[in-house]
Amino acid sequence: MTQQKSPLAWLGGKSRLADQIIERMPAHQTYCEVFAGAAWVLFKKPESKVEIINDINRELTNLYRCVKHHLGELVAQFRWMLVSRDEFDTFLSLPPDALTDIQRAARFFYLAKTSFGAKIHKPTFGIAATAPPRLNLLRIEEELSDAHVRLSRVFIENKPYDQVIQRFDKPGTLFYVDPPYWGNEKDYGEGVFSREDFARLAGILDGLKGKFILSLNDTPGVRETFAGFRMEAVKTRYSISAKANQAVGEVLIFNFKGR
Ligand SMILES: C[S@@+](CC[C@H](N)C(=O)[O-])C[C@H]1O[C@@H](n2cnc3c(N)ncnc32)[C@H](O)[C@@H]1O
Repeated sequence: MTQQKSPLAWLGGKSRLADQIIERMPAHQTYCEVFAGAAWVLFKKPESKVEIINDINRELTNLYRCVKHHLGELVAQFRWMLVSRDEFDTFLSLPPDALTDIQRAARFFYLAKTSFGAKIHKPTFGIAATAPPRLNLLRIEEELSDAHVRLSRVFIENKPYDQVIQRFDKPGTLFYVDPPYWGNEKDYGEGVFSREDFARLAGILDGLKGKFILSLNDTPGVRETFAGFRMEAVKTRYSISAKANQAVGEVLIFNFKGR
């Protein structure tokens, strides 16, 4: 196991469920994470021959590309920074399209690390009397260097889920599919995912040549929509949300038996 940590906290991030998912992975040649977010499963699992992470969020995939290709320049952006509400507000007010890719990645990383509850879609400055900031400016180089090494041979895609599944579906592919939770479809922005997408996703997964593991919250709607597949209930705790640390039920859904 590589058992690294993702450099990001992310809404719906699977830092606590990753080990249970990795234990259930069958042999495969190509690993494709369709809704990557902070990619906790990729960072924790052993390397596969070919690996792809995909997310529709362009800020996120630009960050991964800069960590992979421009580590030194990205780290240099943080040289004289502080964790402060002023700096947070300044970053928030900068239009990403007017920045270079490296400045854009630094803006996104700063906001993701310093926002309350990792709500990057509508970020607010996170500050607490009981915990230090999640952005440790003294360790940024170390943290991002580990991610750089892990991402050095990973393909990074920025496509809607259906296109990336279609592109990489082969008999030797394992997809890890971690869409927004049922009931939280709008958490990652308007127009990227809707309730109807669950049925669409079930239809696409039904015709797959490769294998998949899908994780979702255990709700009647999820059980009904994915009733045609093998399902296993598992327990975890949310890492980031108003319900952080509460035990919650999730389901893992598969199109294969055993490992
Ligand atoms: C539950 S999170 C993934 C969390 C991830 N497994 C982790 O450990 O951090 C869902 C992700 O799906 C992405 N997403 C939402 N709609 C999408 C779409 N239509 N196509 C691709 N990605 C999408 C969001 O940007 C978000 O990062």
